[in-house]
Amino acid sequence: MKKNVELFNELYKGYDYDIFSELSIKERRKKRINNKDFIYGEILHLEFTKLLYFIEREENKKFEGDFLDLGSGSGKAVFTSALFNNRFANSVGVEFLDDLYLESETIALKYNFLKVEQQQISTNVAFLHGDYLEVDLMPYNVVFSNSTCMEKSNLLRLLANAEQMLKRNSYLIVTDQYLPLKPNSSLKLLSNIFVQMTFGLSRAIIYKML
Ligand SMILES: C[S@@+](CC[C@H](N)C(=O)[O-])C[C@H]1O[C@@H](n2cnc3c(N)ncnc32)[C@H](O)[C@@H]1O
Repeated sequence: MKKNVELFNELYKGYDYDIFSELSIKERRKKRINNKDFIYGEILHLEFTKLLYFIEREENKKFEGDFLDLGSGSGKAVFTSALFNNRFANSVGVEFLDDLYLESETIALKYNFLKVEQQQISTNVAFLHGDYLEVDLMPYNVVFSNSTCMEKSNLLRLLANAEQMLKRNSYLIVTDQYLPLKPNSSLKLLSNIFVQMTFGLSRAIIYKML
C-alpha cells in the first residue's frame, strides 16, 4: 500500500515548482484581472494534512461527508483532502481561471487512474469552473478558502454565504483574515493554527456552524 504523500507526489510529478503560479499570472495579465483575490499561492500537502488532523483532534471526531475548496487552483487542497484516509466521500474544488481549472481536471484524470490501480482510495474528486461566490455551500461538511489575499468585500460575501448556506456542524477554514462575526452569527470561532504555505507561514482560522 502506498503512503498518501507518495500518491500525492505522483499526481504532481512533472510539474515545475512555479508552473501554476505562472499560468495564473499569464491568464490574469491577458484578461486584465487585477483583483487581489487572484494572487496565487498554494497549500503544502503535509501541512494541510496536519491542519486536517489538528481539527479532528480538537473536535475529537473524524471528518465525514464532503470537502470543498473555494478557489482550488491546481487542486492541491482537493487532492490532499481526497487522500486523507478516505474520510471524505467527495472532495470538490471550484476555480475561476481557465488554465488552472483545466490543469486540475488533468490531474483528476491521473487521480482516477490511481484510484483504480491502487484500490486504496475511495474519495471522489470533482472540479467546478466558475465563481466560488456563486456556489451552493450547503452540501459540504468542510469548506476551505485560502483567503490570505481576499478583498474585504468578498470576504464579507463569503461570510454571508457561509452563514446562509452551511449546514449544522460543518466547518469553514479561512486563512490570515478573521471573519467579522456579529454576536448573533451562526458561525463560531473554534481555533487557529499556523501552517506553512508556498508563500510563507499562514494562520488557518477554523469556524464551526452552530
Ligand atoms: C491563494 S490561491 C489558493 C489555491 C488553492 N486553494 C490552494 O490553497 O492550494 C486562490 C485561488 O482562488 C482563485 N479565485 C479567486 N477568486 C475566485 C473566484 N471568485 N471564484 C473562483 N476562484 C477564484 C484564484 O484563481 C486562485 O487559484
